[in-house]
Amino acid sequence: MASSKHLRQIFQFAKSGDNDSFEKVAVEIIQEEREKQHHLLANDLEEILYGKVSKVISFNLLKEDIPTDKEKSLPLLTVYTPTRSINDIVLSSENVFQIERILLENRKSEVLKSYGLKSIDKILFYGPPGSGKTISAEAIAYELELPFVVIRIDSIVSSFLGETSSNLRKIFDYIQKNRMVVLFDEFDSIGRERSDTSEHGEIKRVVNALLQMFDTYNGNSILIAATNHEKNLDSAVWRRFEEVLYFSLPDNNQIMKLLEMKLRGVRRNLKKEIPSLAILFKQMSHADIERIIRRAIKNMILESREFLEDQDILNSISKEKSRIKNTKLKK
Ligand SMILES: Nc1ncnc2c1ncn2[C@@H]1O[C@H](COP(=O)(O)OP(=O)(O)OP(=O)(O)O)[C@@H](O)[C@H]1O
Ligand SMILES: [Mg+2]
Repeated sequence: MASSKHLRQIFQFAKSGDNDSFEKVAVEIIQEEREKQHHLLANDLEEILYGKVSKVISFNLLKEDIPTDKEKSLPLLTVYTPTRSINDIVLSSENVFQIERILLENRKSEVLKSYGLKSIDKILFYGPPGSGKTISAEAIAYELELPFVVIRIDSIVSSFLGETSSNLRKIFDYIQKNRMVVLFDEFDSIGRERSDTSEHGEIKRVVNALLQMFDTYNGNSILIAATNHEKNLDSAVWRRFEEVLYFSLPDNNQIMKLLEMKLRGVRRNLKKEIPSLAILFKQMSHADIERIIRRAIKNMILESREFLEDQDILNSISKEKSRIKNTKLKK
C-alpha cells in the first residue's frame, strides 16, 4: 500500500491538474512497491501510468473466455488475478528452496529452451489441509506475473460422465492457449476413481484420458496438482510429476514466523513472548493458526480495545479446539 503521504499528494496533484508532480509521485509509489517485492502491482501501475494495456485488463479478458459445461453451462474453471506473494507464506526451508528453483527455471525458460530443455511445469503438492498448497500455487503465479487458474477435478470427474471427456478437452484447449499457473485441486479424486474396481468402466476411461492429456500437455502453462489424500494416488500418477513438494504442519520455528507475520502492525499488550505463545499452537495447521489470530484481533476491535491481550488469543484457541472436536464428532 502507498504511504499516507503519497496518497495525500496524489489526490492533491490529480485535483489541481499538476501532471508533472502527479507523475513524480506515481513513479515514487511504483518504486516503493518494487522495493516491497510487489512486482505485479508495480507493473500494473506502470502500465496504467504509461498508457499500455494493463495486465489486469488482459487477465480480465481471459475471464470472459472461460470454457463451460455443455449441459449446465457452468464454468469449468476459475481465473484469478493473484494477489499473494512468496513473502505472504511461511514454508519449510526445503519448500522455499524448491519453489525458488521452480521460479528460477520459469523465469529463464527461454534460455533453457535454447538448449532444448523445458522448465519445470508439472508439479505435485501434497499434505494436510490448510498447510499452504493453494496459497503457494497462487504465489508462484504472482511471482511469475501470470494468471492463476483453479480447476476442481472432483467436480469435473463426477459431473455428467458422458460429458467429462469433452469438458477435459475444453480445459486443456484453454490452458494451451495462454501461459498461466493452473491448479488441479483435489487431484486425488483421480486415483480414487482409478483404484475403485467397482466403478463403471467409463470413469476409468475418463481418468486415463485426463492422465494422458496431462502427459502430453506441452503448452507454456505450469500445471500444479494438489491433494491431501496422497495415498489415493498410485505410482503411475506420481511419476508424472517432475517436482513433488510435501507441505507439513508447521514446526515450532514456522509457527513463530507465522505469529510474527499475522501479528505485524497489531498493537499488543501480551505477557507471553512469541516463543511461549508458539507452544500453544502445536499440531495446528497454518490455516488454523491464522483463523485463531484473526478471531483474537476481531475480539479486541469489537470490545473497543487498542491492545491485544493474552486472553484474546487464549479464548480464540479454546474456541478453535471445540470447533475441531465438534467437526471430528460429526465425521
Ligand atoms: N504456509 C502458510 N503460510 C502462511 N499462510 C498460510 C500457509 N498455509 C495456509 N495459510 C493460510 O491459510 C489459508 C488456507 O490455506 P491453503 O488454502 O493454502 O491450504 P491448502 O493446503 O490448500 O488446504 P486444502 O488441502 O484444504 O486445500 C491460506 O489462504 C492462508 O491465508
Ligand atoms: Mg487447497
